[in-house]
Amino acid sequence: MAGIGLTLPSKFTHKPTLSSSTSRSSSSSRCCLSSVKMTVSVDDNKQTTFTLKKSEEAFNAAKELMPGGVNSPVRAFKSVGGQPIVIDSVKGSHMWDIDGNEYIDYVGSWGPAIIGHGDDEVLAALAETMKKGTSFGAPCLLENELAKMVISAVPSIEMVRFVNSGTEACMGVLRLARAFTGKTKIIKFEGCYHGHADPYLVKAGSGVATLGLPDSPGVPKSATADTLTSPYNDITTVENLFNTHKGEIAAVILEPVVGNAGFITPTPEFLKFLKKITKENDALLIFDEVMTGFRLAYGGAQEYYGITPDLTTLGKIIGGGLPVGAYGGRREIMEMVAPAGPMYQAGTLSGNPLAMTAGIHTLKRLQEPGTYEYLDKVTSQLINGILDVGKSAGHEICGGHISGMFGFFFTSGPVFNFEDAKKSDTGKFARFYRGMLEEGVYLAPSQFEAGFTSLKHTHEDIQRTIDAAEKVFKNL
Ligand SMILES: Cc1ncc(COP(=O)(O)O)c(C=O)c1O
Repeated sequence: MAGIGLTLPSKFTHKPTLSSSTSRSSSSSRCCLSSVKMTVSVDDNKQTTFTLKKSEEAFNAAKELMPGGVNSPVRAFKSVGGQPIVIDSVKGSHMWDIDGNEYIDYVGSWGPAIIGHGDDEVLAALAETMKKGTSFGAPCLLENELAKMVISAVPSIEMVRFVNSGTEACMGVLRLARAFTGKTKIIKFEGCYHGHADPYLVKAGSGVATLGLPDSPGVPKSATADTLTSPYNDITTVENLFNTHKGEIAAVILEPVVGNAGFITPTPEFLKFLKKITKENDALLIFDEVMTGFRLAYGGAQEYYGITPDLTTLGKIIGGGLPVGAYGGRREIMEMVAPAGPMYQAGTLSGNPLAMTAGIHTLKRLQEPGTYEYLDKVTSQLINGILDVGKSAGHEICGGHISGMFGFFFTSGPVFNFEDAKKSDTGKFARFYRGMLEEGVYLAPSQFEAGFTSLKHTHEDIQRTIDAAEKVFKNL
């Protein structure tokens, strides 16, 4: 965007808490979001000022209190510049920052908000559960209910263990795979992120990719010595690893569709090949479906692609916005987990009644007919629209979607792995990102993260986003 004044579509609303700054126009630089003030036309008659003043103050205070001002690195906007917006509230497909600015949200709390933020039924169910307390630390019926739903939905899961995050799920599943096979080595793929446990912080995606961290200090060599890596979609490298480390590989873990290096899909033969080679070598195939579970289809990527792994990790959506992770798989493997078996893993808040409630009601909503068709429709409209206006404005851009998960790169593509993804013009992405934010569109603040839509994203939201993209692309 070239000008200082920002005219937003007339439906773009502000909460009454909007900054009362009287400035009608501003000479603030537009190159950085901090201290941005601009004239915004809320409707044909009224003008008000878009400001990020409160966000900036809050974030400056946060930096003194928490490392980098955040509790998870990608939120800090390091790769797109400027400062993060500080959020006040979310509802449906929209969110509001503490300055009162409204955004169409394509992050969805990094995936969980698939039925839309603050769903009324989920909130009502939470209020009911809360009357009974917030934590039992003992078995409750809600655990059985969510477990049954997960088991009947996800093809590979006959038994499940709930934990509190995707990271925990991936830690647990690794110990289980090693315990079951009696072997120690694992294969992971470059750009795939499986949480922040030591053995996975090798060529990882998400924040590790965004911040360009090779491997984190503090991870002892011994912790990653048994982690072998391969480029995604690379059959030959995986074959070589199995040949070189015969009889030593416990498991192959992957994001069946990558979201943590940007959006990357597996080639048709890749998942089939992994299924075959793991079986032939008495290794386990683990789909990390923390992101794709209940998102690509109700049964996740394994239902979508018709490939059933031995073990699966889940997170995000199954907690409906509260902290939940899970791992599950065949009964004979899961029965190794304590106290049924000897593999130890535990959690004070695991199976928490509030978290179970939010998960149950989120999954119930997803079971309604037409949900995944709707997600596919709005997301296809979104990504095709963005690609069209980007190409028309002369940019090299490629991208795609499955159901309510999407992504695009500033390169002509195709993108099969993290090396291809890194060819994207990240400087251009940063400028695009800031332009979109100023237009009231909140995307993930990194080129190497997938985007998400929800059942609450309307065709109007999508059209407004495409219109905004068209405007921003022209001025990149
Ligand atoms: C595929 C995948 N696995 C694991 C994780 C870690 O989950 P959490 O952030 O809940 O610890 C993530 C987080 O984004 C993820 O996308």
